Amino acid sequence: MPSHTHAYRGSFLHCLADPAHAGTDAVAYIDDGILLVEDGLVVSLHAADKTTLQGDCTVHDLTGKLLVPGFIDTHVHYPQVDVIASHGTQLLQWLETYTFPVEQQFDNMDTASATAAFFLDELMRNGTTTALVFGTVHKASVDAFFHAAQSRNLRMICGKVMMDRNAPDALCDTPQSSYDDSKALIEQWHNTDRLAYAVTPRFAPTSSEEQLQLAGKLLNEFSDVYMHTHLSENMAECDWVASLFPDQLDYLSVYERFGLVRKRSVFAHSIHLSHSEWTRMNKACAAVAHCPTSNLFIGSGLFDLRAAMKACVPVGLGTDIGGGDSFSILRTINEAYKIQQLQGFNVIPEQAFYMATLGGAVALDLDNHIGNFEPGKEADFVALDTTATPLLQRRASVAQNWQSTLFALMMLGDDRCIYDTFVMGESVKRGQAL
Ligand code: GUN
Ligand code: ZN
Repeated sequence: MPSHTHAYRGSFLHCLADPAHAGTDAVAYIDDGILLVEDGLVVSLHAADKTTLQGDCTVHDLTGKLLVPGFIDTHVHYPQVDVIASHGTQLLQWLETYTFPVEQQFDNMDTASATAAFFLDELMRNGTTTALVFGTVHKASVDAFFHAAQSRNLRMICGKVMMDRNAPDALCDTPQSSYDDSKALIEQWHNTDRLAYAVTPRFAPTSSEEQLQLAGKLLNEFSDVYMHTHLSENMAECDWVASLFPDQLDYLSVYERFGLVRKRSVFAHSIHLSHSEWTRMNKACAAVAHCPTSNLFIGSGLFDLRAAMKACVPVGLGTDIGGGDSFSILRTINEAYKIQQLQGFNVIPEQAFYMATLGGAVALDLDNHIGNFEPGKEADFVALDTTATPLLQRRASVAQNWQSTLFALMMLGDDRCIYDTFVMGESVKRGQAL
């Protein structure tokens, strides 16, 4: 039976490569384009006057909107929704005061399911269609999350926190139980529909050596699962790691020792890294999730994007809810830009846009599936209203070109600019095709 085709008409912007290597040609803009989608996959994207619509085809008129690939959030904690915007502490106190108490509620499947549903709807409301997500230590928290993601047909990666020390008893597993629970979750969920599993030791201070070793064993047994953890976020944390692992050269070598640094390893933050650590990250094909809103909100420090780019380490953007104070990747880009400004580095609009889309997909090793509108990719995208507020309208009216409009949108935009989000070609906000 011939497939039904959907044609989406509007302005389009997407990355074909990394602007750091390919220059500004890495980004393609089509002022009046038509995206053809069949069975949720991209068939083609061309200028409207070069596209002929044939056969059984539904046209979705999004003229006046800017269509971009769905945003990718490469580090976020779904159970921390209620921790967002909590006042006044830095990382280690913040974990004890706000985060650990809230995470204890996720042994309850109803709490976990309701929070996962809210979280995923909020991501989509902000134009985010893929995320790498922390659960809690409870296996049920990840079951609940995957069920909620599966019912929304989303491409999501999640994992159960492994944590057997330096946390409240109610949040501690054991090396063996963390191994068993993670393995059961991998067997049930990894590569099911659009879902994938991440082995998730919280960070070095909350895992014994025995637990980190079992995390490495899981990675050996399931070679295409992800590894997701925190690295070098806060100075007191770095000092603590040095005292807990006195034999290790630096923070990264703690993870290296247990085989946790490799392709599909994603390290959130990575602020206080040495030149040697950057070089080793590159050699191991590991990636970084840069979380600017969180780094500013909990006062962790200024991420060195230039060092990451020089070392050719893939960098995606993360909201790090609840350390971060916004679900919006547009707001996240804004803070990322300013963090580099403070260090004398002017990030070009194309590079910022790349980190939120194709660069995030590369960091998650998903660029074969998502990140732009190349034929065969999954049709996850966002229709942006670049004039959603009076200020944006005024600013857009003086923009000379699409780069200027894009930059203003990334600096001034937020959830108000998300006109609609599409998952595998299906409109989310409208509940059905337009
Ligand atoms: N390091 C260890 N756990 C956490 C967490 O939940 N949030 C952040 N931002 N950093 C962490
Ligand atoms: Zn985090």
